[in-house]
Amino acid sequence: MRDIIIATHNKHKIEEIQQVVKGKINIISLKELGLNNDIPETGDTLKENARQKARYVYERFHKDCFADDTGLEVDALDGRPGVYSARYAGEKCSFDDNIDKLLEELDGKTNRKACFKTVICLIENGEEKYFEGICKGNITTERYGNKGFGYDPVFIPEGHGESFAEMSGEAKNKISHRGIATRELIKYLLKQ
Ligand code: IMP
Repeated sequence: MRDIIIATHNKHKIEEIQQVVKGKINIISLKELGLNNDIPETGDTLKENARQKARYVYERFHKDCFADDTGLEVDALDGRPGVYSARYAGEKCSFDDNIDKLLEELDGKTNRKACFKTVICLIENGEEKYFEGICKGNITTERYGNKGFGYDPVFIPEGHGESFAEMSGEAKNKISHRGIATRELIKYLLKQ
């Protein structure tokens, strides 16, 4: 099985991606490589950030690696928080702070449409390749469920009656932005 480094410290992302790639690719975490410092993420687009994180790791280890960058785009907020989803409620804010701010900003709004977008940047022998996944849905008016992470408790994917935080990891992966982008990545890697 092929080894690929995953350029993230987010254990939730690692878990979700592991579930999709298991038996197909051997994921190596930054922890296993002893890289514990924060990876800079200063771009203005998901693609730039995914590239920046993957490059940062590639330049240190010179081994194939990939990074995921994800944002939540809300229609009634003209696409915000988007690429700034992690720091929506301020630097060092928690998932809960971000959800509180989102529910406040959407208070009284009837258009609750939103989508998650993931861009994965793979660096293979120094060359970049990109894979994307989108999941459309609606923002609830309160939290539902306690699984997953980030905005999962307030996001109900289109055609479903449960929030991402009420679903099993497997059910979320089947339809999620990250699941879709990761399966595209695997398809590409296994074709070679
Ligand atoms: P990142 O910059 O890709 O790490 O992600 C930005 C922020 O989006 C994270 O801090 C999470 O709050 C949120 N996020 C990313 N992926 C998901 C997801 O699958 N579900 C819910 N929130 C997510």
